[in-house]
Amino acid sequence: MTIKAVVFDAYGTLYDVQSVADVTEQAFPGYGGIITQIWRIKQLEYSWLRSLMGRYDDFATVTRDSLTYTLRALGLTPEDAPFGRIMDKYLHLDLYPDALAALAALNGRKLAILSNGSPDMLQALVRNSGLDPVLDATVSVDANKIFKPSPQAYALIETKLGVAPRDVLFVSSNPWDACGAKAFGLNVAWIERVTPEAMALACVENERLPPLTMFKLLRTQMDELGVAPDCRIRSLSELPALVTSREPSI
Ligand code: LAC
Repeated sequence: MTIKAVVFDAYGTLYDVQSVADVTEQAFPGYGGIITQIWRIKQLEYSWLRSLMGRYDDFATVTRDSLTYTLRALGLTPEDAPFGRIMDKYLHLDLYPDALAALAALNGRKLAILSNGSPDMLQALVRNSGLDPVLDATVSVDANKIFKPSPQAYALIETKLGVAPRDVLFVSSNPWDACGAKAFGLNVAWIERVTPEAMALACVENERLPPLTMFKLLRTQMDELGVAPDCRIRSLSELPALVTSREPSI
């Protein structure tokens, strides 16, 4: 089997969504952790709910609405300036430290992003992080007006890149996304950044679970959805070796 394209999820896989924590803490001291986690949990929830409701609106709207929800739920006032500063960080998220080197080492294959992000958000993020020279395409689910993990979202890979699902390796650290991509028929590498052992330890050590631990419990461990990714890796840096040397294991 030859992998002709490697396609990445964006938020949480190439880009660290936790990197909004500093700006949320600056805007609302003492609340940075809880805002960061509730915001991301609600953002994903809203994307799935809107897809089920048949009321698609783009990810910029979903991201704004979930931040509004979060601040309101915490009893905070979403003043214009802090709200704008927090939202702006979504266009300047930190890349995972190994992202650039991993992408560079994969050259020779088509490299792309398939993300729930809206086209404007993704374009700005890719440009601001310096990824545009190494990517062949940045594909937004907006073209089909439904969010991952809908099969119609993953179908955009073949539409936009012209590569059949059997020749694509899809990479995500989001368990729900890895399961969705596998259910659609892509080859899938799941990045398990948080091991079950680390999770168990964090739960034993903390009498009160901090928001980040709760988030990791909900969103970093493999889901029970009746479908499993083809392989699990610990970081993006393992990808080049996986793709080039052990293709039959995929
Ligand atoms: C993405 C998010 C939702 O599609 O992880 O990039």
